[in-house]
Amino acid sequence: MTKAEQETARRFAERYRVAPAEVSRRVELAVIGGDWGANGYTTKAQADLLAARLGLRPEARLLDLGAGRDWPGLYLAAATGCQVVLADVPIEGLRAAAGRARREGLTGRAGLLAASARALPLAPATFDAVVHTDVLC
Ligand SMILES: C[S@@+](CC[C@H](N)C(=O)[O-])C[C@H]1O[C@@H](n2cnc3c(N)ncnc32)[C@H](O)[C@@H]1O
Repeated sequence: MTKAEQETARRFAERYRVAPAEVSRRVELAVIGGDWGANGYTTKAQADLLAARLGLRPEARLLDLGAGRDWPGLYLAAATGCQVVLADVPIEGLRAAAGRARREGLTGRAGLLAASARALPLAPATFDAVVHTDVLC
């Protein structure tokens, strides 16, 4: 991992280690329209637009790069029935994502990948679609 990636992992791990407070959940619902633990500005309406433009459907394989705690990839899996892999550098966000996937009954359709988008351990054409929201790698 580069120094920049290490710094990213440290900074976001601090944030994801702490579960969002109830007030944050209510703000997220009011501003974004969902309560999936978003850590950016992508709204539920924009996530729905992504799903439509990408043609996500039950057989589709989606990669969410820089998924943080799960947003929007896990929501897209819930909404469209697609398979998703949530990838990010700090493990803390992926832990939160695993918990939410369990609670939503999505463990069979949600994979977790701790890796940098700069060096993904994936074969070409593994996915039908890729999303990345509020991610600057
Ligand atoms: C502002 S957060 C957005 C998280 C989520 N997509 C959302 O909208 O709530 C940016 C995320 O990008 C991730 N990130 C930054 N550089 C990355 C890289 N090289 N590879 C994978 N993830 C990266 C960070 O760890 C962080 O979780």
